[in-house]
Amino acid sequence: MDVKSAEFVVSNTNVDKCPKDFIPEYAFIGRSNVGKSSLINMLVQRKSLAKTSGRPGKTQLINHFKINNSWFLVDLPGYGYAKVSKSVKSKFQKFIVEYFEKRKQLVSAFVLVDVRHEPQKIDVEFMQWLGENGIPFSIIFTKADKLKPGATKRNVENYLNELIEDSWEEAPNHFITSSSSNEGREELLGYIDNINR
Ligand code: GTP
Ligand code: MG
Repeated sequence: MDVKSAEFVVSNTNVDKCPKDFIPEYAFIGRSNVGKSSLINMLVQRKSLAKTSGRPGKTQLINHFKINNSWFLVDLPGYGYAKVSKSVKSKFQKFIVEYFEKRKQLVSAFVLVDVRHEPQKIDVEFMQWLGENGIPFSIIFTKADKLKPGATKRNVENYLNELIEDSWEEAPNHFITSSSSNEGREELLGYIDNINR
């Protein structure tokens, strides 16, 4: 799929104020700093459509980006960032939970995890919560450029095996990406294009 246009639409913390357009929507979620905003920029080939930072906690709002005038990419705040006070987030901020519970246009979530890390409790819990709520999702392994291909492959296999050992019936659909090298771009856009058709 060619990305012919990508425009920022609106930011907010209230799912009821998200765009009313009833078009397919895909949301990026995961720990702070995992590379959600960078991946959106990589997909649309725009350096700073979504704001990124080396410091966790950059994205604080629900951000809607309209692609090719026909579907949305949604950049969300990260979870699991200790410096955000406990009162602001019990574990997952309320408005993020509400976004997933209420947003009817949401076709699929993408849960991003750093390919260098073993499964983290908070990510597994979030995936379980998505499953319990009937929200389809894929895992996106990020920052693949940080490892050699063999190590990436091993880590991904171990990660998925651990999920299965952890009582998952089957491994979730997954992608391996790098926002630096554009790895995984065609595959991910192709996947979305297929669903949109
Ligand atoms: P929050 O908005 O804080 O939740 O973070 P985020 O998940 O949106 O992460 P962001 O895209 O801002 O990236 C965090 C840091 O990781 C930045 O310094 C990025 O340059 C870096 N980064 C993101 N993706 C990649 C990648 O694929 N490869 C490498 N090497 N660095 C990456
Ligand atoms: Mg971000």
